[in-house]
Amino acid sequence: MGRMDRMTPASTRDLLYEECEALRGVQNRLCALYAGRGFREVMTPAMEYSGVFAADAAVSQRMVRLMDTAGQLCCLRPDCTLPIARLCGTKLQHAPLPIRLFYSQQVYSAPREHSGKEAEVSQVGVELIGETGLAADIEILSLASESLQALGGGHRLEICHIGFFRSLIAGLTAAEAVKEQVRALIEQKSYAMLGDLLAPYREQPAARALCALPRLFGTRSVLEKARALQPGEEGMQALDYLEELLDRLEQAGLGENITIDLGLINHADYYTGVIFRGYGEGLGEAVLSGGRYDRLLGRFGRDLPATGFGVNATLASRGGAESGRPQEEGITLALTKGRLERKTAQMLAALGYDCSALEEKGRRLVLPLGDSGIRVILAKAADVITYVENGVADVGIVGKDTILESGGSFYEVLDLGFGKCRFALAAKSREAVFSGYSAKRIASKYPHVALSYFEGLGLDVNIVKIEGSVELAPLIGLCDAIVDIVETGSTLKENGLQVIEEIAPISARMIVNAASMKLRQQPVERLISQVEDYLRREG
Ligand code: PRP
Repeated sequence: MGRMDRMTPASTRDLLYEECEALRGVQNRLCALYAGRGFREVMTPAMEYSGVFAADAAVSQRMVRLMDTAGQLCCLRPDCTLPIARLCGTKLQHAPLPIRLFYSQQVYSAPREHSGKEAEVSQVGVELIGETGLAADIEILSLASESLQALGGGHRLEICHIGFFRSLIAGLTAAEAVKEQVRALIEQKSYAMLGDLLAPYREQPAARALCALPRLFGTRSVLEKARALQPGEEGMQALDYLEELLDRLEQAGLGENITIDLGLINHADYYTGVIFRGYGEGLGEAVLSGGRYDRLLGRFGRDLPATGFGVNATLASRGGAESGRPQEEGITLALTKGRLERKTAQMLAALGYDCSALEEKGRRLVLPLGDSGIRVILAKAADVITYVENGVADVGIVGKDTILESGGSFYEVLDLGFGKCRFALAAKSREAVFSGYSAKRIASKYPHVALSYFEGLGLDVNIVKIEGSVELAPLIGLCDAIVDIVETGSTLKENGLQVIEEIAPISARMIVNAASMKLRQQPVERLISQVEDYLRREG
């Protein structure tokens, strides 16, 4: 028996006893809710042909692929909606409308290495097919709200309408490539970069409105702010629609935990109307997500409007009051140790926070900022992202270099303007990288950044991961060039290397966990506004 035979594959796990009971409990509660509302259960195979998911680039990118016995490329289902769309175009081709379906099955995707995320997740959800308009949207949103209630604990349902974003992006006079970048940055919640990208267009109302998108969330008053941004006809219609939805949900007694988030633009090419997400206290990420997708089913032969949502039952079964972090009032700020630490402490002190614990920290890693309710944790840059992404820290201060290398899902809200440097390709000479036919060897502490830079150039390279003093690698013949951070340029100069190409500017960023942005909105917003004021004052 080999060593691996005693283990489960990476990012998968066995569930025992209480864990099974908790998960089964969530599944049963949700399934009973949906069956009670006239939805009927379907099960699709765990294995599908890869082509079923081709329409959704984000989903298909992280699929777990395998081959069937005939050598056809298949995958483990990464999502339940597309197989159900397939079902509607085939087995349910002649079924009377509307079709109400629910499912409770596993979905599979390859998580980022060592991210702590699981490859196998239990998802329970509904799809309402063949109905469009307010009544259908209200039915699904009410059910989403009741699903969150059924999970227990504090929760919030956020709604958006893709028409608002569509209208803004259509009103922006810019090259298609820029618009595509704007969409990608909003989807990734990289709002600091969004400001940089749109800076040349800020005379246009659409650009100003797109920059304001990240902060357009909260109660009904958000709709007024959004109207003032003159979003164009489609945008105004989207806002009117959201207002009507809110009225109707309030009348149904469901308004209390429903808010608007006009920056909720995920899968912009997939959804066609209302989009929504549900958050639960202590869960760190969205536990429910869904929306209207009127153009998806046509691909499978039955062109019908549809809407639905899925609940991450695995997450719901682990979170809540029993696990996760304590539900204290204050916020946790993860700060990158070293270079950014001093500048951040200076900024916090200038904002009036008591930073004495930071100044006299000794070996302590958890430090309160006086009695402000903010506690600072000190961590390595990549760990700051991990803590924020998992919701154990609400806010993080980290360099753009680490964000570009690690990726991840969080709000990148502010460019703090300090810790400035740049990513560059460096070598002894330009010829050392760009001559001859053989693939060059590139050393870097940032292999993803290096690889994506060369992919952009269409060049094959071999990347070698180095942990530090990267400038040494070309000197002793390990590589032809390096991709690294350049600040003053003196390390390169003193080692006979030069910048061949600048890759990207870097500075410190403030990042915020997606759920904290919503569930700890007041203290998080207060900190962001204070820092914004400070940055304005400092110019
Ligand atoms: C960074 C970077 C360069 C150097 C650039 O290294 O990797 O080596 O700073 O700075 P300069 O342009 O001002 O000379 P760091 O000091 O973080 O140490 P490391 O190389 O051991 O990671």
